[in-house]
Amino acid sequence: MDFSGKTVIVIGGTSGINRGIAEAFAAAGAKLAVASRSQDKVDDTVAALKAAGAAEAIGASFDVRDDQAVADGLEHFHDALGDFDVLVSGAAGNFPALTAEMSVNAFKTVVDIDLIGTVHVMKGAYPFLKRPGASIINISAPQAYLPYEGQAHVCAAKAGVDQITRTLSMEWGIEGIRVNSVVPGFIEGTEGAKRLSPSEDAHEEIRKDIPLGRWGQTQDVANACLFLSSDLASYISGNVLAVDGALYQRGSGRFGQMMGEMLRMKGKAQS
Ligand code: COA
Ligand code: NAP
Repeated sequence: MDFSGKTVIVIGGTSGINRGIAEAFAAAGAKLAVASRSQDKVDDTVAALKAAGAAEAIGASFDVRDDQAVADGLEHFHDALGDFDVLVSGAAGNFPALTAEMSVNAFKTVVDIDLIGTVHVMKGAYPFLKRPGASIINISAPQAYLPYEGQAHVCAAKAGVDQITRTLSMEWGIEGIRVNSVVPGFIEGTEGAKRLSPSEDAHEEIRKDIPLGRWGQTQDVANACLFLSSDLASYISGNVLAVDGALYQRGSGRFGQMMGEMLRMKGKAQS
């Protein structure tokens, strides 16, 4: 994969899966821009992207819940790096919580980051996307199509993200812009996985259920993003691509239920 001369923007690209994606595009020679809330994480990532081989690397700190800050940040990236060939939107927040025990503001916080944040990123980037040829990838989650106890907020938000993907693949497809979602399974060493699988025992239980027999790596997700943004995928749009070792062919049943049971036991212990 050679992305030299291409401009790649990764929103929420300063840790975990999204940073792995940014690093893979850097290794393929792209010009990179990353953004998240923490300037320290941005600075650290920009240095790592340069070390990984990025032709250029810049960053900005903003919160995806602030539409004007997102629009200004993306305009700054465009001024510095030119039209966007690839846009990855992956900023997200998650915590396990039963709906009855979560405040409305807690639910809304996740919807505001994951779903409305995606809208801010899509609309802020729209004027700057290369036409024809841009590839947009929204980082989604299995909760988008599998109900999962303790995750109603994430299920609602990520289902919305995938429907945005499908809808914009039509609205923007006519301008030559492709839009896809990538759904990571359980990805080793990441914040999202730690929050849903906090113990060694849970890690091993999950591993046993993954048909391909191992947890995912950030590189597995990055490989899917490289492919979807390459000419090899020039006729692929409006898709939701799972990168999960076939885990979720089994449905969410056991995990969705385990999470609910764990939270109910915790609630009883506290009362
Ligand atoms: N259980 C229940 N409610 C929770 C919670 C938890 N574990 N964590 C936060 N909340 C609630 C807060 O109590 C608050 O609601 P309230 O105002 O009614 O009290 C609301 O959620 C917002 O919390 P706050 O800490 O102010 O939000 P924030 O904007 O600072 O942070 C989060 C957003 C909560 C999503 C935070 O976990 C975060 O920044 N996550 C980013 C990293 C991440 O989640 N990575 C995994 C990606 S899959
Ligand atoms: P992570 O390391 O916490 O990454 C989240 C990124 O988003 C960070 O760069 C974070 O940086 C940024 N971010 C969070 N809230 C933000 C906000 N309000 N505004 C701007 N940036 C914000 O999490 P991860 O586990 O790698 O998850 C990455 C993506 O993969 C998410 O979309 C998640 O839903 C999805 N996913 C993960 C898994 C998994 O196994 N980990 C599974 C399925 C799906 P700051 O803190 O600096 O803001």
